Amino acid sequence: MKNPFVLSPKVDKELFCDRESELQDLLSIVTNGANATLISPRRMGKTGLIYRLFDEIKDQKMDIDTFYVDIYATQNTEDFVTAFAEAIVEAYQKKIPVLKKLLKAIGGMKPTLSFDKLTGSPELSLSFNSDDEKLTTLKNIFNFLENHDKPVIVAFDEFQQIREYKGVYMEAVLRTHIQMLKNVNFIFCGSRRHMMIDMFINARKPFYCSTMPVNLGKIDVDKYSEFINRLFESNGKAIESEAVEFILDFTRCHTFYTQSLCNFIFQNSKRNITLADARNLAAQLLSLNETIFLQYRSLLTTQQWNFLKAIAKEGSVLQPMSSKFLSKYSIGTPANSQRLLSSLIEKDLILDEISINKSEYFVYDVFFSRWLENN
Ligand SMILES: Nc1ncnc2c1ncn2[C@@H]1O[C@H](COP(=O)(O)OP(=O)(O)OP(=O)(O)O)[C@@H](O)[C@H]1O
Ligand SMILES: [Mg+2]
Repeated sequence: MKNPFVLSPKVDKELFCDRESELQDLLSIVTNGANATLISPRRMGKTGLIYRLFDEIKDQKMDIDTFYVDIYATQNTEDFVTAFAEAIVEAYQKKIPVLKKLLKAIGGMKPTLSFDKLTGSPELSLSFNSDDEKLTTLKNIFNFLENHDKPVIVAFDEFQQIREYKGVYMEAVLRTHIQMLKNVNFIFCGSRRHMMIDMFINARKPFYCSTMPVNLGKIDVDKYSEFINRLFESNGKAIESEAVEFILDFTRCHTFYTQSLCNFIFQNSKRNITLADARNLAAQLLSLNETIFLQYRSLLTTQQWNFLKAIAKEGSVLQPMSSKFLSKYSIGTPANSQRLLSSLIEKDLILDEISINKSEYFVYDVFFSRWLENN
C-alpha cells in the first residue's frame, strides 16, 4: 500500500491537511491585483502551500499562468535571472510558440533553447557579458510576463536569499520593476523572519508596505488529528487516539516532523497501532537520525551544545536570561546566555517565536530537540 503521508512539497489535495483559510487568503490577494508575503519557520509548509495554491487555480479553471521560482541556491543576479527564466521555460515546456516569444523578448543576450536528449524537455541557456545585460534580461522577462495574454502569478521561494547578492541592491531593482506591472502578481516566500520583516515592514526599505502578509503557523491540532486518523483508516490501518495525541505532541504539530513520524509509523506498523507502537517507532526514528545530531555537535562549542540541551530539556523557554534558568543549567551570566542564544538563532538551531506579549525559544529541529532531551 502506498504511504499516504507525503514528504515532498508537492502534495495531492486529498493528502494535504487543512490550510483552507491561508489558501483562500493567498488566492484572494493574488487574484485581486495585490502581492503577498508568506512567512513561516522552516518546514512548516510554505512551498507545499504554494504548489497547493497553483493546483487550486488549475482545478478552478482560472485563466491564470503560475510560476514557481526557488531562489534558495542562487548567489547573484545572474543566478536569479537564470532561475527565473528556467521556471518560465519549465512551465511552458509543452508550448513551444510561447517559448519562442520568450526568447524573442529576452532578445539581444543570445539566449538559446535546446532539448534534452533523454527527456525531450527544453533547456534555456543564457550568457551575459556585463552586469547591465543581466539587468536588461531581467527587465525583458518582466516585460514578457506583463504582455502575456493571461494574468500571471509568480512565487519567489526563499526570497530573503536576494540579500546575499553582492554588488547590487536587488530589493530596489525588483521593486522598481514590480510596481509597474499590472498583469503580474507576486508571492514572496521566506523562512528567515527577521529578514523578511525587515524587507517588507521597514519603512526605509524598497518593499515597504507593498505586500499583504500571510502568516503560516501550525496546523490546528484537532484538524491534524482528524486528518491522521482518516489517512490511516482509509489506507487499511487503525490507530489508537492516544497514539495520534502522542504523535502530535512529540512532533509539536510542526508539519514536516508530524508528516515524517506518521510516514514512518505507517511504513513500519501492522494493522493496529497502539500508543506503545507509536512511542517505540518515534524512538527508532530518532536513532536513525543520530548521525546528523552528532554532526551538529562537532559544529558547536561545548557551551553552545549545553545551552541547546538546556532549551531542549525545558521544551521551550520564555526567559533565557532569568536567574532560575541560568543557575539550573550553569549557564553563567545573562550576557553569556544572550550571546549563546544569538549565535544559535543565527545558526538556525534555535527558533524564537515572537508574539505580541512574549518571546518563546525552542530547539528549531523538533527531532533533534527530542533526542537532546534524552541524551
Ligand atoms: N498541509 C499539508 N499537509 C500535509 N503535508 C504537508 C502540508 N504542508 C506541508 N506538508 C509536508 O511537510 C513538509 C514540509 O513542507 P514544505 O517543504 O512545504 O515546508 P517549507 O515551509 O517550504 O519548508 P522550508 O522552509 O524548509 O523550505 C513537506 O514534506 C510536505 O510534504
Ligand atoms: Mg520551502
